[in-house]
Amino acid sequence: GRGADLAGRHVVVSAGGTREAIDPVRFIGNRSSGLQGYALARTAVARGARVTLVAANVALPDPAGATVVRVESALGLREAVLEAAGGADAVVMAAAVADFRPAARSDSKIKKSSADPEPIHLTKNPDILAELCDLRRAGRRPWPEVIAGFAAETDDVLANGQAKLARKGCDLLVVNQVGENLAFGTPDNAAVILVAGGDPVEVPRGPKEGLADVVWDLVAARLA
Ligand code: C5P
Repeated sequence: GRGADLAGRHVVVSAGGTREAIDPVRFIGNRSSGLQGYALARTAVARGARVTLVAANVALPDPAGATVVRVESALGLREAVLEAAGGADAVVMAAAVADFRPAARSDSKIKKSSADPEPIHLTKNPDILAELCDLRRAGRRPWPEVIAGFAAETDDVLANGQAKLARKGCDLLVVNQVGENLAFGTPDNAAVILVAGGDPVEVPRGPKEGLADVVWDLVAARLA
């Protein structure tokens, strides 16, 4: 077994999907359930880590033994992750972060009228994973030794994944094979984990806990 190989380590996991407010009652969101991030948090607790779970809009009970910080938007998730990551040993970004948000949030509910509504203008959200890697490179705080991301790719999984790993500057990139009842909202996942400076690790279809344990194996190996 893996025993308590993460004992004495502080790990940060992000989970769920961000919501970007349009007005007080409406948002732009995504279908992330948070199941993979919660599986990562549970398995890290089981392996002895101190776990901070940054959860965006997840309808799941708090995993026992983890510190849960609930957030809504990409900007909220950024603040919580950067705060928790200072001094942490590893960060795993499993959350589906919206790439864009409405440029302006209406303070009152947008009214229905006979005319077509005004278009919703979007602005880019920060790429939290890339920012974390940039901050680590700048090296002004004890940033995590291991930074991992997730990516959903449908084609050219290896080539697209390797390019993304390099572009973001992270250590591990879990590339999900989407479609065929995998990934979003299902208990199973299948993935290829790309490793900076190493060979990819293929994880066959199975429970999200299994994939989570392989991620922590690779994290623990890099921390050792
Ligand atoms: O570029 P892409 O969205 O495919 O990258 C996915 C990875 O980057 C995930 O780990 C996700 O949590 C992270 N991400 C982020 N900030 C964003 C978009 C994605 O940290 N704005």
